[in-house]
Amino acid sequence: MMEKKIQRRQFLKSTAAAGMGLTILPSGTLFGANAPSNKLNVALIGTWGRALAHFNAISSENVVALCDVDENHLTGAVKKWPKAKTYVDWRKCLEQKDLDAVVCCTTDQTHAFVANWALSRDLHIYCEKPLGNCVNEVRVVRANYLKKKNKLATQVGTQRHANPNFNRVRELIIDGAIGDLKHVYAWGNRQIPKPGYLPAKGDPPKNLHYDLWIGPAPFHPYNPEYFSGGPGANCLHWNMYWDFGSGQIGDMGSHTMDLAWCAIDGGLPTSCEATGDPFNPDVTPVKMESTVQLPANDWRGPIGLTWCQGGAMPRSPKGYVDLNRIGHGVMFKGTKGYVIADFGSRMLLPFGNDADMSYYNRRDKDEMIPDLGHFQKEWSNAAKGNLKTTCDFEYSGNLIEQMLLGLVAYRVGKKIEYDGAAGRVTNNAEADALLSRKYRPGWKLNG
Ligand SMILES: NC(=O)c1ccc[n+]([C@@H]2O[C@H](COP(=O)([O-])OP(=O)(O)OC[C@H]3O[C@@H](n4cnc5c(N)ncnc54)[C@H](O)[C@@H]3O)[C@@H](O)[C@H]2O)c1
Repeated sequence: MMEKKIQRRQFLKSTAAAGMGLTILPSGTLFGANAPSNKLNVALIGTWGRALAHFNAISSENVVALCDVDENHLTGAVKKWPKAKTYVDWRKCLEQKDLDAVVCCTTDQTHAFVANWALSRDLHIYCEKPLGNCVNEVRVVRANYLKKKNKLATQVGTQRHANPNFNRVRELIIDGAIGDLKHVYAWGNRQIPKPGYLPAKGDPPKNLHYDLWIGPAPFHPYNPEYFSGGPGANCLHWNMYWDFGSGQIGDMGSHTMDLAWCAIDGGLPTSCEATGDPFNPDVTPVKMESTVQLPANDWRGPIGLTWCQGGAMPRSPKGYVDLNRIGHGVMFKGTKGYVIADFGSRMLLPFGNDADMSYYNRRDKDEMIPDLGHFQKEWSNAAKGNLKTTCDFEYSGNLIEQMLLGLVAYRVGKKIEYDGAAGRVTNNAEADALLSRKYRPGWKLNG
């Protein structure tokens, strides 16, 4: 079976490579990009909500497996792919033998599990953000990916990265438009306060496999409110609870800090400190500010990266710039000025007498970083080609690890020193223990 799979893999790769070189062939040619033989066998895990945004991209592949804990949610996907096998338990789904690739759109407490199990089965995987629900999970998944990066393509679902503004901001920063980079601030204004886990209310409907929905997380009783959001927004009904998500730092923070991360070539932090709302054991903070120190790299010195959420905000460099009018934004501070950006636009604010821009060589058009194109297709094409994606589990794993470390520092309320190579907090045992979380019996991250 394995040999057959490897042969199929090699065939997919070589036909994709041939496809790239043979784009002048008429469509329908055996080796054209859309030839039936040149398709991935995909499992879609989580088939409603965010998954609907993947329907178009994966419909040019063979969708052979569908999995959802809610049988009603499976129905819509079955209408589109009637021949696909259906599952309610993703562990069973991943046993299907003809799979090449997985798209995971489930709740956050299962992301690292699905991603890690998929990698262990040599499956390409696209996983919705965030990649894990604690530091250790992200590290496990990244390490597994790094062992397999020569045969598997991965992507974390931060699709805003395909916006050309990400590259324009990166060019400004690395080309020195604000001098030497010193500090980066990212923020999000969303506020969804909750008092605590919802009280037990009624029984789960027959269509919903509630115990599988809870999955590896500690058990909390059913309440329909967890399931009351519209498609793609239902995550806002559960991702603020510690056992199900990481609140705004993991939610919009994944997108907004990606805009920062794309421009700074960040490694793992050396320390982290955070403050915010009083600690609630059930719910992540609405208001929080977290700062990591990031080591120097080959083009810049060490920098700080601050995330602000739920009302916490960086100070504006000039009274006439109202940062509060940017819902989700990033501000880069350098020795000669600021770049302020949101997902689609940017402004440059030079400051000081020598900020005359004479030090800055704007790059020519032909040197600009090329657009990455369609974000989901970047991954599926990579799986059939050179395996390269912009938000692979290394880049995004590092990004998400430092975000989740912010929650650890917030919980202990002290500055923590971090050894990124070992994945250890070196000055605080309580914080070190919070890098991992406990799972219900029967659930294994390494499966
Ligand atoms: N990239 C983006 O812009 C974006 C936008 C919205 C949501 N998301 C992410 O997508 C994920 C899903 O968010 P949502 O709002 O669609 O949530 P949701 O609660 O609607 O869940 C999505 C689907 O997954 C199913 N599901 C949940 N747990 C499952 C499990 N263990 N196994 C199989 N199916 C399961 C649900 O029944 C539902 O059909 C979240 O992690 C969220 O962060 C990303």
